[in-house]
Amino acid sequence: MNPSTDYATEFAGRIALVTGSASGIGRAVARRLAAGGAAVAIADINETGAQAVADEFRAGGTKAIAVGVDVTDPASVQRAVQATVDQLGALHLAVNNAGIGGPVVPTHRYPQDEWRRVIATNLDGVFYSLQYELPMMLASGGGAIVNMGSSCAINGFAGVAGYAAAKHGVIGLTKTAALEYAARGVRINAIVPGFIETPLLADATDAERAYLVGLHPAGRLGTAEEIAEMAAFLLSDRASFVNGSHHLVDGAYAAQ
Ligand code: NAI
Repeated sequence: MNPSTDYATEFAGRIALVTGSASGIGRAVARRLAAGGAAVAIADINETGAQAVADEFRAGGTKAIAVGVDVTDPASVQRAVQATVDQLGALHLAVNNAGIGGPVVPTHRYPQDEWRRVIATNLDGVFYSLQYELPMMLASGGGAIVNMGSSCAINGFAGVAGYAAAKHGVIGLTKTAALEYAARGVRINAIVPGFIETPLLADATDAERAYLVGLHPAGRLGTAEEIAEMAAFLLSDRASFVNGSHHLVDGAYAAQ
């Protein structure tokens, strides 16, 4: 492999699928991959939003499609991966990013239906995505995958039992899949973002936002673009020996 530092062309000829890319981190990741020359499938349960992002990308000269997907439904994920390959030609890169926050209440009051919904979206969704992406990547001669973790993937956070359990699971899934496919040309890593300014935090009150900012020695929340840079690195040939690990982008949050 010849690592390239030409950021405008490093993903030329690569085809990428990003789940949850109608908004926030996923959209920023998709935009960064497109800026590097990738063709991109914008996959989201919000089909209108996905269409708007794909339209914007196409207007900028990127080959992009919008794909409706509900990552909690394996048949839907299978269709989305197949649509990507059918319409864009192959699959080389994937970012399994779709996720929800869920309630913030102590474990003994955490609603059981919310538990199922949060696990189904944040953990089952990554599992189903891997199941359908991996065969396509093997057929394409290899690839790279990034799964979206969270600070709650490596530490507890009071009130978010379902979210923390799901995100810890994403790390285990990432490591296991990396072991299984390392010798077959597919690398699988996870990103552990701190709190990032996206619609996921839209419901936070000013006081809650100030609390979250205070958790980060950097003195601010992160941006979706800062996560996208890590995703781009992990998906690029520059990261050819980076595999099966999680990568913090958190303004020193976890260093405390
Ligand atoms: P967001 O709410 O802006 O974007 C999430 C996207 O996922 C939305 O477009 C939504 O429509 C889509 N989505 C939700 N459920 C889906 C489903 N069942 N199937 C397909 N798409 C679905 O949120 P954000 O912040 O961009 O989150 C992206 C990822 O980053 C999530 O996995 C989240 O847990 C993670 N993350 C976010 C942090 C933050 O502070 N914003 C911190 C750490 C991790």
